[in-house]
Amino acid sequence: MKNIDLVEGKVAFIDQNKLPHVLDYVVTDDYLVIADNIKRLSIRGAPAIGVSAALGIAVTIQRMEEESLANLQKRFGEICDFMAVVRPTAVNLSWAVNRIRKKMESSSPKSVEEFKRILLQEAKDISQESEDESRSMGLFGASLLPDNCRVLTNCNDGMLCAVSYGTAAAAWYVAKEQGKQIEVIACETRPLMQGARLTAWECMYNHIPVTVCTDSMAGYAMAQGMVDVVMLGADRIALNGDTANKIGTYMLALLARAHGLPFYVVAPTSTFDLTIETGREIKIEQRNPEEVTHCGGSRIAPEGVSVLNPAFDVTPGTLITSIVTEKGVIHSPFTNGKIKSHCLG
Ligand code: MRU
Repeated sequence: MKNIDLVEGKVAFIDQNKLPHVLDYVVTDDYLVIADNIKRLSIRGAPAIGVSAALGIAVTIQRMEEESLANLQKRFGEICDFMAVVRPTAVNLSWAVNRIRKKMESSSPKSVEEFKRILLQEAKDISQESEDESRSMGLFGASLLPDNCRVLTNCNDGMLCAVSYGTAAAAWYVAKEQGKQIEVIACETRPLMQGARLTAWECMYNHIPVTVCTDSMAGYAMAQGMVDVVMLGADRIALNGDTANKIGTYMLALLARAHGLPFYVVAPTSTFDLTIETGREIKIEQRNPEEVTHCGGSRIAPEGVSVLNPAFDVTPGTLITSIVTEKGVIHSPFTNGKIKSHCLG
């Protein structure tokens, strides 16, 4: 099953806000609909927001009736500026928008038709490469999972965060194909419950045994010897290995270190930000306080209370055992040179 696809010139994507109750696709050729769904997390996860933004821009441009190439290029630039900043933390969004922008600059199309054709092809390539990368990350990630492995994860790093397969989840999907027994423990991921709603649904859909726990139960599970490995995704990785991922990830890395468990991050090289030295430079998205004060539509905190709602935290590279990409595995200690040569090599 694909999370994002091109269907008859439109982008089709799973509406993740309806899961786990209803599996429904939204179909659109309007970048504003894509942007709104990225903001509301109906499309979410680092690779997925990059791919859907590129496809969304490309299909919007296809139906524009601009007669002059200059006008079309102007509209394209404006749409790219808008789309690149819809969410700030996952670098894959601006990476994908910059990639189509650079492609259009370097290929200097001579007509409206040529512009549209090159743009659509580049967006399709981004989507196809993302699928291929998931498969490669799965193969490299699976090599780190022994048979009978119990993997604890946070948020959703499966097919719902990408085009298909995902990032960290690709590792347990491939491990299962290789005949290994894998069990997943999914932290629920307050406040928006991507673990309980999405990872649990996705694992069950793919016949991977899964257990949901609240975020505060991860320490208990490790202390009871119920976890062999922590494996999860990333939204932006700095040159020293500092990794922004869903809120709660830092806490899990500290717990893993305290219990002597390996802590693996799985992400495509497009999730590395080679312009930043450390995680201190990562902008953390702050979201609506109502996500914290309300649960399932009901208020659970007193009216007027002040609220903290960062969507991500930064795990220091020193707490990460290895980072898996589509190119292979980078083992700690992480250095600027090691990460650059892995990503660019
Ligand atoms: O706020 P979300 O649901 O988009 O957050 C996504 C995550 O934190 C995922 O864990 C992350 O993208 C890593 S998997 C690609």
